Amino acid sequence: MDRVKFALLALALASCSTSAPSPLAVQQAPAPEPAQASLYQGRIAPILAERCGTCHGPEKQKGKLALHTPPAILAGGSDGPVIVAGKPKQSELVRRLHLPLADEDHMPPENRPQPSAEEIAALENWIAQGAPFDGGTGAPVPKPAPQNQVTGPLVGPADPAALAALEQAFVHVEKADPTSGLLWVDFAANAPKWSDAELAKLLAPLAPQVAQLGLARTQAGAQTLALARRMPHLERLDLRGTGIADAALAPIAGHARLESLVLARAKLSDASVEVLLGLPKLARVYLWESGVTQAGLARLAQERPKLAIDSGDETNTTALEVEPEPKFTSEAPPPGAAAVPAGAPAAVAVASLEPINSVCPVSGAPVNKKYMIVFEGRVIGFCCNKCPGEFWADPEKFRSKLPAN
Ligand code: HEC
Repeated sequence: MDRVKFALLALALASCSTSAPSPLAVQQAPAPEPAQASLYQGRIAPILAERCGTCHGPEKQKGKLALHTPPAILAGGSDGPVIVAGKPKQSELVRRLHLPLADEDHMPPENRPQPSAEEIAALENWIAQGAPFDGGTGAPVPKPAPQNQVTGPLVGPADPAALAALEQAFVHVEKADPTSGLLWVDFAANAPKWSDAELAKLLAPLAPQVAQLGLARTQAGAQTLALARRMPHLERLDLRGTGIADAALAPIAGHARLESLVLARAKLSDASVEVLLGLPKLARVYLWESGVTQAGLARLAQERPKLAIDSGDETNTTALEVEPEPKFTSEAPPPGAAAVPAGAPAAVAVASLEPINSVCPVSGAPVNKKYMIVFEGRVIGFCCNKCPGEFWADPEKFRSKLPAN
């Protein structure tokens, strides 16, 4: 067995290892206090059942995700864990709830009933508390979850006339959460009709309150971006499909708060990499068909190793998403680490390999080049992050599914 070189892409490994059957790793929550004991049963489970159950329940598991039992929630979906105990902001489940409605990753999908702001806050709060499941089987909790984060409004009330003007123009406006006073504004309906000047005019009075701004497919340009730069609480900005160019994007440089920026289908060049590097809080950027070249993406990845770059192109993401400091678990120590258990997969970052197969030997689905291993000197591709583990558990079972030597 130890003659066999087993190499996993760092990315696939990172997601595999966290989604491996070790729910204990996720349940780092301190022992729940009795008052919180049945928060899950009383509040969280009903929300998940009502809002997500039709697609992520006992009958259907879209994205290979079920949310109706604690083990299913911990197991996550096809892309790995969906909650990070104690860290709502890093939890995929929360991220998707906050995406602009028109985003195809938004959950629940656009045309389905959406959870209320209070329900979203309850889910976040539960995850912030460590996502405890324990405590009895069902007695509903009369007490609401303790509000341990936001105590009062962060910003003053939004100008009612400005809100009315947005509503009249069919712009979607919603409170980002029940207490902070921050807003989520989305121009998705009638997007193409919005000129740069009109956007800037409608948004100017609300600059203090806007936390999430959806400008997808509008004509947003330098004016709107200069205004966005003066929105102190802006965390997410969606500019997909705007065809925005370097000069129009430039005014956003230096924004102190912006965490997520969607630039898919923009008309940028590598000059904008400089602007992105000038956003200190930027944690996630979507650059699919943005015009930024491979070299630009590589530079961004190199200078901001913690930045999640979504370039949408599988062959590129293979190279890009290899983190320089991959997190390894005990099952997969870093290459060269002293105590490598016999037979444990050694992880290496392989950026330029082509798999020998086009179909996943475990599932029969097409290969996704994000998930590759080196087995007996040959590169084998899989469809998702779960299949390499299954393959590795018993390679003989799948040998006949691989192309002959
Ligand atoms: C109408 C069906 C539908 C409803 C309702 C729905 N989802 Fe989904 N969900 C999907 C589909 C389809 C996918 C797979 C495609 C994708 O990844 O976007 C998915 C994927 C996901 C994923 C990613 C799983 C992975 O690892 O790929 C998460 C997280 C998620 N949903 C959370 C939720 C939450 C939370 C709710 C309820 C608030 C919800 N969904 C409601 C259809 C639904």
